[in-house]
Amino acid sequence: MMMIDLSAAASAASAAAEHLPSFLQAITVTDEEQFQIRAIGIAFSAVTVGGGTAAYFLRPKNTEMKFVLSDSEAAAVSLVNGIYDASEEDKRMTERGSIGRTRRQLEADRIAEEFAEGKDPREVRGKTITYSEVDLNFLAVLLRAAEPKQGETFVDLGSGLGRAVLGAAALYPSFRKCTGIEYLQGRTDLAKTYVSRFRSSPAIELMTDDFALPTSAKTDQAIQQADVLFAYSPRFSGKELLSTVEKAKSGARILTVDRKLASDGFELIKTLEDPSGDLNRYRGYVFRRL
Ligand SMILES: C[S@@+](CC[C@H](N)C(=O)[O-])C[C@H]1O[C@@H](n2cnc3c(N)ncnc32)[C@H](O)[C@@H]1O
Repeated sequence: MMMIDLSAAASAASAAAEHLPSFLQAITVTDEEQFQIRAIGIAFSAVTVGGGTAAYFLRPKNTEMKFVLSDSEAAAVSLVNGIYDASEEDKRMTERGSIGRTRRQLEADRIAEEFAEGKDPREVRGKTITYSEVDLNFLAVLLRAAEPKQGETFVDLGSGLGRAVLGAAALYPSFRKCTGIEYLQGRTDLAKTYVSRFRSSPAIELMTDDFALPTSAKTDQAIQQADVLFAYSPRFSGKELLSTVEKAKSGARILTVDRKLASDGFELIKTLEDPSGDLNRYRGYVFRRL
């Protein structure tokens, strides 16, 4: 595990800060707390490992890094990030995430608009086809808590552009299969272009269907047989989600974000704060189907 002892690091950095050139020490003097964090961050990165560490300390001050990834988890996250943000421009960061992410958001929104065009609003599930992507670091710690075993299967309920499906596959190559179920055909089509760039096990399948009201027996089967189900669900209807995961077999783990399963058919194994939750603080839950 790549562990960082933050208190030791902070005191080392604090000592180093005293030796900083004065122009660095005086960068931010208006907000005492921010100044401390920034000065410590700059000093720490200057005397230790450079840019990456600086980025950590220069995060907004309400950020708490509660999790560290193992080397293999970090490598898996970076592999998938590299598939989705392939060009140097895609990788460039803005306040809302990478440029690539903003592009994907626009494309996902365009697909939803195209789908809605000319349809009765009641037919368009506007609330739930909203697109966003889970932070793969968060997915990594949620999956770790679910303890996937060799040969198990993973299903993403509402898989969008397939990023969490690929994330699960890269993080746990020991999964036998990772499946995504997505309502909008256009998103599944786009997801397949990313998945085609992933050249590793396990098997990946992307289906276009409604996980709550499946039109195909194959979708139902994937849900019933899944060992780990994931729902990045801040906007999903609680009723829909519950009726879906109630089909899961006993022992299946269900990972949800900002949604507690209000049923005694599930045991809550773990609650986790989103480690990157600087702007939006999410809470993840890991349940076991009883
Ligand atoms: C918030 S996005 C999450 C995408 C992906 N899981 C990720 O984390 O990158 C939710 C996705 O679920 C899809 N969705 C919503 N309700 C659905 C349903 N009943 N059946 C299948 N997909 C659904 C939406 O169209 C959207 O693409």
